[in-house]
Amino acid sequence: MKLPLADAPEAKVDPSLDLEAEIQKLKKDRNAVILAHYYQEGEIQDVADFIGDSLQLSQEAAKTTADVICFAGVHFMAETAKILNPGKIVVVPDLTAGCSLADGCPADKLAAWQARHPGSVTVSYINCSAEVKALSDYICTSSNAEKIVRAIPADKKVLFAPDKNLGAYLAKQIGRPMELWQGSCIVHETFSEKKLVGLKERNPDALVLAHPECEEAVLRHADYIGSTTGILKYAVTSPKKRFIVVTEAGILHQMQKAAPDKEFIPAPPDANCACNECPFMKKNTLEKVYLSLRDLAPRLEMPADLIARARIPIDRMLALS
Ligand code: 13P
Ligand code: SF4
Repeated sequence: MKLPLADAPEAKVDPSLDLEAEIQKLKKDRNAVILAHYYQEGEIQDVADFIGDSLQLSQEAAKTTADVICFAGVHFMAETAKILNPGKIVVVPDLTAGCSLADGCPADKLAAWQARHPGSVTVSYINCSAEVKALSDYICTSSNAEKIVRAIPADKKVLFAPDKNLGAYLAKQIGRPMELWQGSCIVHETFSEKKLVGLKERNPDALVLAHPECEEAVLRHADYIGSTTGILKYAVTSPKKRFIVVTEAGILHQMQKAAPDKEFIPAPPDANCACNECPFMKKNTLEKVYLSLRDLAPRLEMPADLIARARIPIDRMLALS
């Protein structure tokens, strides 16, 4: 567990408080729901009402009857929840939790790229800003990307943004060339092919489960490639007992809970670091979850016209999912 810095808001939380109990009470008082991504700290996942991958979290956000959504994830995910629920209060434990994919694709640069490819269709991975969503024809996540791209008429050129690794994986799977924005996830790019091969050799009975945000050199060693939920489901239903997991290490919490008799080995990053943990996701803490529900802040606010424009490609995705 991280220790709060003296000037950080969570440092003002009374250390004698039973945070889990306080959060449960606040959820009732506020008619709030906590949606958490698998990459959140285990203790945040344990107070969440729903844990899922990017697609499931947006589907859950679309159907919630709560008045307040506390989104324990990163900024683009909370933005999606707000776009789907303009009338609800959406709070984020740490509003500065960004994403290298979203940050690496500014809307003005995307618009310039689109202008160089008139008549093309833009499919954007959900890991992008609301402004980029508003410029896109379709949004997709790692669990429905193949279905979305396959739904686009074959005579149309597809611009895929912002993840070049997911884009390259899809192009290969579908056999359809696409123009790829050159963005990447700093976490999934950190996995080392050399170290993965060494780990596989030392664990020949273990299956390799990888997220499509990984580079092709890593994906070619995978026995299964899929979204975080796909990876979790595969591991739980597989008759095999040991797995090398090539995605952010937060997923191991649910994997171990769902299949305590199985062994999950986190894939090694290139350097001797904890870079298989997303520094953006990990900005959220249990203290910040508590504060966001207590103070109903920080809130995610967006202009109504941006919400309306960004919703169109998200609704197209949800209709196809
Ligand atoms: P999924 O939850 O769709 O698997 O995406 C993983 C991810 O990197 C989210 O930021
Ligand atoms: Fe973005 Fe990668 Fe972190 Fe997901 S894991 S939020 S894609 S930086």
